[in-house]
Amino acid sequence: MSNSKLVNIAVLGSGKGSNFLSIAKAVSMGELPARICVVVSDNPEALIIKKANELGIPTAVLPCGKYKTWLEPWIEEELVRILKEYHTELVVLAGFMRVLKETFLNAFEGRTVNIHPSLLPAFKGKEAWKAALEACVAETGCTIHWVSKEVDGGKIIAQSRVPILPGDTPESLHARIQQAEHELYPKVLKDLCLDWIKKYAK
Ligand code: GAR
Repeated sequence: MSNSKLVNIAVLGSGKGSNFLSIAKAVSMGELPARICVVVSDNPEALIIKKANELGIPTAVLPCGKYKTWLEPWIEEELVRILKEYHTELVVLAGFMRVLKETFLNAFEGRTVNIHPSLLPAFKGKEAWKAALEACVAETGCTIHWVSKEVDGGKIIAQSRVPILPGDTPESLHARIQQAEHELYPKVLKDLCLDWIKKYAK
């Protein structure tokens, strides 16, 4: 990578962290002009935290709060504080299972991307691969989009299509979608980071 500027990206996840690993691999191979400045989870048991610790990347765990699907404003304030402490420039949601609301969006809207396991706008919400299988569609996929106040409804950046095959189970289909995610996310982040550097790096 010829440009010496690296974009500080924070990765947020709640689960096993396979997308995080695909991004960390691209960073370590020099394929992505970025530095993962912090990994944040809402789940202290999440494998993503264990994997980040093993790679020597700083981690933070948010208080779980009263609600399962979103964070109270004081927890979003804490999240924003952590992201600023690590000089975050781009926030990358990789299996972060809480809806982000106003307190967070006021600070990071326009600088936050998400990956969703369907061809949005089809199958918004949780376990989108199951919904696609149950709907008997011929194909599904994954979508990378900007995060906005409409859940899974922000502007689409890129999509990758995945066939649904005879005999697919929710697990086999999700595994095939995840392969596509692991290819697409690092490529899209590379383009976003290069754009960022062009616009903002001195
Ligand atoms: C990914 O398949 C991602 O698309 C999905 O969670 C999984 C996380 O896997 N995200 C959503 O469903 C968000 N609505 P990972 O922890 O192995 O990266």
